[in-house]
Parts: sequence; C-alpha cells; structure tokens
Amino acid sequence: MNNFTFQSATRIVFGKDTECLAGTEVKRHADRILLHYGGGSIKKSGLYDRVIASLNESGIEFIELGGVQPNPRVSLVRKGIELCREHDIPFILAVGGGSVIDSAKAIAAGVPYSGDVWDFYSGEAKIEEALPVGVVLTLPAAGSEASSSSVLTNEDGWYKKGTGSDLIRPQFAIMNPELTYTLPSYQTACGAADIMAHIMERYFTNTADVDFTDRLCEATLKTIIENIPLAIRNPEDYAARSQIMWAGTIAHNGLLGTGREEDWASHAIEHELSALYDVAHGAGLAVIFPAWMSYVCQHNIPRFVQFAVRVWNVEQDFLNPERTARMGIEKTKEFFASIGLPVTLEQLGIKDDRLEEMADRCTNEGTLTRGSLVKLGKSDIIEIYKLSRE
Ligand code: NZQ
Ligand code: ZN
Repeated sequence: MNNFTFQSATRIVFGKDTECLAGTEVKRHADRILLHYGGGSIKKSGLYDRVIASLNESGIEFIELGGVQPNPRVSLVRKGIELCREHDIPFILAVGGGSVIDSAKAIAAGVPYSGDVWDFYSGEAKIEEALPVGVVLTLPAAGSEASSSSVLTNEDGWYKKGTGSDLIRPQFAIMNPELTYTLPSYQTACGAADIMAHIMERYFTNTADVDFTDRLCEATLKTIIENIPLAIRNPEDYAARSQIMWAGTIAHNGLLGTGREEDWASHAIEHELSALYDVAHGAGLAVIFPAWMSYVCQHNIPRFVQFAVRVWNVEQDFLNPERTARMGIEKTKEFFASIGLPVTLEQLGIKDDRLEEMADRCTNEGTLTRGSLVKLGKSDIIEIYKLSRE
C-alpha cells in the first residue's frame, strides 16, 4: 500500500426532508449567497420552493443564477463570477446534479482570482483560494458533492477539462434520496455507469497490498449493480435510491483510492466524446470503459480475474484465467446494456471519422500518456475508440 493523506471534509446531511435544512446549513457559513441551479428540474419538482422557504426561514439573502447545462459551460461560470463580485457574495449554494455543482465550484474558484477561470482547467494556474460551496444533490452520479474536482466545457474550441483542489470540496452536501424519484431512467442509468466508473478507475491498479480497499470497491460496485435495476423498475423505491445515493458519494470522495495508484484513462478518453458530441458523461463511459478493459486486461490478468469472480460471480477457469477475466468484462458490458445504456459509439450516434482527432486532443497532440495500469499513448487510444465502435 502506498503512503497517503486523506481528508473528506464534506459534511453529509442525509435522508428524507433534509432539503428543508438548507437554510440552517448555509447559516453556519454566510447570510448572503448565490443560488445556482440547472435547467428547471428543481422548479418542476417543487424542490426550488422548499429550498427558498428554508433560506427565507433562516434569513439568508440570495441572488439566483439558473440555466446550467449538462456538460457545464465556462461562459455561464464567467457570468456567475461577475454576479458574485458585483453583489459581494461570500457563499454559493448549488442545487442539482454534477453539472450544477461543478459550475458552482468554478465560480467559487474564479471570484477571488484575477485571471480568467479557464486557467485552472487549462493547467495554467492552480486554485489558491475559493469561496465555500454547499450542495443540495438531486442526481447520484458525478460524486461532485464531496469530491475535490470540477469539470467544465469551453465553447471556444469545445474542450472539456477538469481541475482539482481541496479548496473546492463542498462544505456540506444535503442528500435526500426522495429527490431522485423524478430522474428519467436514462439519467439513473447514466449515473450508475459514472459511479461504477469512479470505483473501477481506482480498482484497476498495479499497487499491491490493497485488499482492504479492493473489498470496499467491490461492495460499492455490488450495491450499485443490485439496486439500479430496482430503482429503474420502481423509481420511488426509497431503499434502492438511498443506497445508490450514498454509494455514489463514497465512490468518488477519495476513500476508495487511498493507498493506491488510480487510473483515469477511461475518463480522459470519454471526456473527448462529451466535448465534441455533448453526450451524457455516464453514457460515454458505458461505451468506453469496457473497451478500455478489453484493451488493457492482458497486462494484469489476476486483477481482472478478481473483478470477474468477486464482482460478477463468474466461475473461475483455472486453466484459462484470461477467459475468466474477459467474462467479467462481458458481464460489465451486458449490465450497462441491460439498464438501457448505449455500449457502442454507433449506439451513441457517433461516427468513426474523428477518432484520431479525439486521440490527439486526449494526449495533447501525442505528447501525453493517459492511465497508470497501462500508460496509453495516442495510438493506444485510437485502438480503444476503434474497439468501442460496435
Ligand atoms: O438541468 P436540470 O433541469 O436540473 O436537469 C438535469 C440535467 O438535464 C437532470 N436532473 C438532475 N437531477 C434531476 C434531474 N431531472 C429530474 N430529476 C432530478 N432529480 O439531469 C440532467 C443531467 O444533469 P447533470 O448534472 O449534467 O448530470 P451528472 O450529475 O451526471 O453530472 C455530469 C457532469 O459531471 C461531470 C461530468 O463530466 C459532467 O460534466 N463530472 C464531475 C466530476 C466531479 N466534479 O468530481 C467527476 C465525474 O467523473 C464527472 O466527470
Ligand atoms: Zn465520472
């Protein structure tokens, strides 16, 4: 096991009706906030009214900025930064899914910074200071409610890039599983793929002696695999929704990666799909992750065998371990398909005419490698895109 430092400082407020505590939670930090949200789902569900009532009850003044799009855009972030500066806002409350939270984190980092906020995403600057952010989560998927990262899209060139700092980890996350009842089943499924991907990016490692976190990863994966079909069948299944929601946070708050090298090639390869084709991140991962697994599996057969046996209950073929390993990959793909996700580029509606361009963007014109289980260069990434075609 590698040395590590781990602190997940986000206070989790979990359970029924907890959105009514938004005012109380904010009050610990500020009396004046920016209320940030997406395209309208929170108004339709009545959540917006409940959050406003709670803020009013606690005497919190607020200004609003809605309209965050999935794959959140830097242009709206710049608008949010201006608003916060103009009104001298010291705190941001994000009400929504990963896109709203990531947009809020970007605003939070941008307000005290004298340059352009995209610098944090292009790698030109490091976040040194940020406003505190709080969250009311409506979609278990990205794990942004307790993560230290934020992912933004720059419309100028359609680049999708991430940044990270403990300074943008939310102060609190209010998580009421009932808020997820209104999710379309496709979003529930996309969330599942993203949660599973966050676990698998950590699980597939070359680091030895990490059996404890392997077991945590396997338990979290199994929880998603068992509960997602239940939530899709019955969207108001509280037992399933609550387990998915909590597992989604644990998948990405850093705990499962402690003491091990993480991979993250599949995320980087997927981000190019989201950037150029505006696909849902989870749907892109359902296509890319199995292709990545097939491409790299020979480099660490024992790990893929362990995954197949422990996560998918595949019977181990002692004479042919690679066969067992490949069955685990097949099961992963079958699961994604069974919950209504695309598993090929073709099903995502993406032609194969820009594969080289995406691989170039993913590797900074061939100058970077991605991943750590196997370091992948441009030609490897093209092969992975090809494997995901059909
Ligand atoms: O905009 P509204 O109207 O709210 O609708 C949203 C949106 O259309 C809808 N939705 C959310 N909660 C709902 C709901 N509809 C009905 N009922 C509800 N309760 O769902 C749609 C998708 O929302 P979005 O926030 O885009 O989804 P998600 O949470 O999957 O976030 C995806 C973004 O997070 C990034 C992804 O790249 C992507 O941009 N990620 C962020 C990470 C992080 N910060 O740590 C890590 C991840 O790997 C990921 O990259
Ligand atoms: Zn993700």
